[in-house]
Amino acid sequence: MPSILLNAAAVGFFAQAAYAYTQVNVASPFMRKNIDPIVFPGQYDKSHLHSFFGSDAVTINTNTSAELQAGCTNAQNVNDLSVYWVPTPLFTADGGTTWEPVGISRFSAYYNLGESEAEVAIPQNLKLVAGVATATTKEGMDASAKATWGCESQDVALDSNGFPSSTCNTHVQQLLYFPQCVNTETLETAYADRTCPDGFKRMPQLRFSIRWDLRKNLPNGWSGEAPVKLACGPAWCSHGDFINGWTEEAATDMLKTTVEKQKYISVIGDGETADCTPADPDPDHGTSDYAESVAAMSKRSVGSWGWKSRSRFM
Ligand SMILES: *[C@@H]1O[C@H](CO)[C@@H](O)[C@H](O)[C@H]1NC(C)=O
Repeated sequence: MPSILLNAAAVGFFAQAAYAYTQVNVASPFMRKNIDPIVFPGQYDKSHLHSFFGSDAVTINTNTSAELQAGCTNAQNVNDLSVYWVPTPLFTADGGTTWEPVGISRFSAYYNLGESEAEVAIPQNLKLVAGVATATTKEGMDASAKATWGCESQDVALDSNGFPSSTCNTHVQQLLYFPQCVNTETLETAYADRTCPDGFKRMPQLRFSIRWDLRKNLPNGWSGEAPVKLACGPAWCSHGDFINGWTEEAATDMLKTTVEKQKYISVIGDGETADCTPADPDPDHGTSDYAESVAAMSKRSVGSWGWKSRSRFM
């Protein structure tokens, strides 16, 4: 039974708006890879390492819902063939010499949580990005994305990089809110400022809530600066990406969350898992290794001389 996160912000939010919501859980990423079909379509060696959840039909070229719907999803709803990704969080247990992916409890995609009435279903082929991947300071973030890191159900001060400054009792929680306004003709998106801009309609807002688990990674915990970073840098660069893969029928069914009731509503396919095992459809390119992904990006930025000499030997 999914539970509502009871932190101060969420309680405050529900006091004003009390609409229902739905939620899809994914136990773990099916793939880590240094690609980004939204930001760097068609390109290898440009992206930092990402952790991918949902439909496995994702390559540098993935562009449509139909492509994702031909894939295998590890989401706990057979009708959700969306793909969701975030920069891989990493920890170090040796003072920064080596970095390994942080453990996970679960990834959750919430839809319409605490939001006012959605007018349209999430359109087929919709792509969303939340957060600023290049942000190096708190000021560089997009406030609308409300990208935060903290301890689940526990108030802990943040360190200078935006991560909890001491060990969490349970999970480290990453939150991220996506634009909820869409132009259904152009698929442009925007955040609502109370209402959506002219020409845009409100759809169920997507929110990532990822419960990472450092307890096995760092059994002695930490105090002060967390020995943690994202593949893109400090927590300020926290961001997420989404390509819609919901079947049209289930995306439409999701609109029943617009009833004025603060409760979880099940979308068709909820709880059913696909009878398949997701796998990288393009295993001969890219890497799932953080150090290799860093090396690939620096090779890529050598400039024209580096490029010419490299391509001659390819
Ligand atoms: C991606 O899909 C959109 C439809 O959503 C289409 O207009 C566009 O041409 C496609 N891009 C590529 C590179 O295939």
